[in-house]
Amino acid sequence: SNALPVRACILTVSDRVSRGEAEDRSGPTMARLLQEIAGVDVTLVEAKVVADEVQDIAAVIHRWCDELKVNLILTSGGTGFSPRDRTPEAIKGLLEREAPGLVFKMMQASLEVTPMAILSRPVAGTRGQTLIITLPGKPNAVVENIEALAPVLPHALHLSA
Ligand code: MTE
Repeated sequence: SNALPVRACILTVSDRVSRGEAEDRSGPTMARLLQEIAGVDVTLVEAKVVADEVQDIAAVIHRWCDELKVNLILTSGGTGFSPRDRTPEAIKGLLEREAPGLVFKMMQASLEVTPMAILSRPVAGTRGQTLIITLPGKPNAVVENIEALAPVLPHALHLSA
């Protein structure tokens, strides 16, 4: 097909999932949604689970960007206000260029669903050729946010490559 080839990685950030106390539901949700975006042909290169630790999150993102040089990274979880939520802080320092428009679109769409969307602190942007997007932890929130970006993702990925 003519679909844009995209190499992607997905990261589930969760203390409980990393300890084996909860099932990873957002990881498989991200993987499924990536296959459903019209206009892109996604190869899932790696999927990982890490605890809510800045060092652990940053190390994985750094390797995926600088060594695997994937086109797209999605993370899920750790974007909220609880003390252990630190995914945005782990990733912000790695971004070379922020993409506030993606954050705006996710927030706008999510607020149509729930006022609780304000409690997410997403970041998005690029490092090298990698587009990085942080999503909330709940599977339904993952779906709502990806669906909000799906119409522009192929073009965004085309431009960042
Ligand atoms: N966004 C959407 N679209 N749908 C949701 O249900 N839940 C919110 C918010 N964003 C939600 C959402 C809630 S309740 C929280 S606490 C924050 O995401 C942060 O989630 P996280 O800490 O798991 O990343």
